[in-house]
Amino acid sequence: MSARSPILITRKIPGRGVEMLRREFGDVDINPHDRPFTPEELAAEVIGRRGVLCLLSDRIDGHILAAAADCQVFANYAVGYDNIDVPKATRRGVLVANTPGVLTDATADTAWALLMAVARRIIEGDTLVRSGRWTGWKPAELLGADIAGQTLGLVGAGRIGSAVAKRSRGWGMNVLYCEEVRNHQLEAECGATRVEFDVLIRQSDFISIHVPLTEKTRGMFGREQFQAMKESAILVNTSRGLVVDELALVEALRTGEIAGAGLDTYANEPRLAPGLAELDNVVLLPHIGSATIRTRGRMSELAAGAIITALRGGVPQNAVNPEAVEHRGK
Ligand code: DGY
Repeated sequence: MSARSPILITRKIPGRGVEMLRREFGDVDINPHDRPFTPEELAAEVIGRRGVLCLLSDRIDGHILAAAADCQVFANYAVGYDNIDVPKATRRGVLVANTPGVLTDATADTAWALLMAVARRIIEGDTLVRSGRWTGWKPAELLGADIAGQTLGLVGAGRIGSAVAKRSRGWGMNVLYCEEVRNHQLEAECGATRVEFDVLIRQSDFISIHVPLTEKTRGMFGREQFQAMKESAILVNTSRGLVVDELALVEALRTGEIAGAGLDTYANEPRLAPGLAELDNVVLLPHIGSATIRTRGRMSELAAGAIITALRGGVPQNAVNPEAVEHRGK
């Protein structure tokens, strides 16, 4: 029986990453299914691996880390890494890497696509035309919201939030942001103003979420926040679904507490909250924020590069826990 490859890729990925890994390590094993591994399959698959290229849909918890006793690095094919128990990985001396930077523009574009689609009711219009029920130009058909000159509120103003703000200059928007530390560059480039979260939600016409999922951000948009928002407000979420209480969102959209929402991510993917799909004032995407050909290719190179660097004994630049190496052999 041939030995197991030291490298596992938990799902077929596009781009040069696989080729890079093959050049370095010879054969690599790739999930043969067109679905994620089940937790049981994953636990069996990681045994004996030295590096794993995993996806945001893989839960890398204590159980998987224990099974992956020989593994030195998990490279997540995503910028978000809330699917990985990083403190546990660190304690075991396992590096965790992600794919920052390369997906900034693609994700900012997706946020804008959602914002515009909801504001201008693009999906409803497309559906109407295709249905054959459209009877011609009408003065009051599918009236939407203006974007130019309105206030854009960014919850999180890191790379992606800043890229969303930069795009808003074309619409002459007033930009508010909340972020733990002041973003001087964003203020200089976009005239953005840092405000408290409760001010941002009350004053913004469009709110776009760009925070990682943490214990602090989980459920940060709930009933109370929707009640505080303008009735005309539109919420866009391209970060993580669990930042929003989806049941409260469905209720807010149904009762007109807010005007609309554009979502790329969900609390329990691929499942939707009850009632969400029945609403006309929400645009729903299948978590495609970073899904451009170039971006997904660059993500695969970055993730593969992290595995190569780590297994050559280095610490990848995109490691989120470089201190993990200090825990080795302890
Ligand atoms: C990420 O990278 O975290 C996105 O959600 C998927 O590209």
